[in-house]
Amino acid sequence: MSYKITVRPSGHTFETEPSETLLQAGLRAGLNLGHSCANGSCGDCRARLLGGEISPLNHYDYRFSQLEKQQGWFLMCSCRALNDVEIEAHESGSATDIPEQHINARVSRVERLQDEVVQLTLRAPRSGGLRFLAGQGVTLSFKGMRLKTLPIASCPCDSMQLRFHIRRRHDDPFSEFIFEDLRKGREVMLHGPSGNFTLDEDSDRPLVFIAWEAGFAPISSLIDHAIQKDENRSIDLYWLSAIPQGHYLSNYCRAWRDVLDDFRYHSIDLEPAGRERLEPVIQRIVRVHSSLDSYDYYLALPESALHQARDILRESGVPDAQIRFGLLKHA
Ligand code: FES
Repeated sequence: MSYKITVRPSGHTFETEPSETLLQAGLRAGLNLGHSCANGSCGDCRARLLGGEISPLNHYDYRFSQLEKQQGWFLMCSCRALNDVEIEAHESGSATDIPEQHINARVSRVERLQDEVVQLTLRAPRSGGLRFLAGQGVTLSFKGMRLKTLPIASCPCDSMQLRFHIRRRHDDPFSEFIFEDLRKGREVMLHGPSGNFTLDEDSDRPLVFIAWEAGFAPISSLIDHAIQKDENRSIDLYWLSAIPQGHYLSNYCRAWRDVLDDFRYHSIDLEPAGRERLEPVIQRIVRVHSSLDSYDYYLALPESALHQARDILRESGVPDAQIRFGLLKHA
């Protein structure tokens, strides 16, 4: 049995089961609901009941005043729905709505995706995960190492388990540390999130994502978030690589393609590893999506490629508002 939740003032809706909190269900549905601790302490997930019935599911320490209780205020992280419910809740529309956070996390997994690419998974403490928007990054601080800001590869629907993709670079002490020294259980401080390479939540246009090698990380987060929102938007993913085995998670992309009706994955090998050149590839993408102004473009490319791609899109008539980009320092 599931119930329908309607969120005001946005009008967004999602389904929830009796065994889960409204916050869990809302995040799973891709809504950027305000929250921090997720355990009933901070009050950041406050919402007001406008219709329907709810009941507590988890213990909470946060205290409402008598007046607030009468007005219907409750915590989404501690309550479940008993029938169809209408609530008033804060949703983050842009990166500026997300507060700066400092979280003491631990390494939960260091996994080689390929010889030269590691997927690092960090686990936030039970007291609270990292609140972020898909496409944003966070700064990692390991004791004895310089700070490093990385794009988050995972979906904001799971604020406790955060994934990152790191390509080995022998001239980069951080990547050497990740590949040679880092072990499960190591402490790491997280500061952030940062960046505004985020989904245009108000748009319902079809999506075109163009990633370059490890630029797949923020694109992966954006696509997972777009899928969670369940809006059935058409998605085309172009993953470009100029090195051998640059498409290090093609199986993940093929899984999206297998389960989604309107998803296409294009794996493209650029020179010198492959035979294609960037400019004709971007022009081909432009031609394929011939009604250009009806698409939203998300580019995660290194600087020179980004300028080239953005110029081609602009010259072809794509409005700037429909081109979002995340600049890669090292793909
Ligand atoms: S998220 Fe902190 S009280 Fe609900």
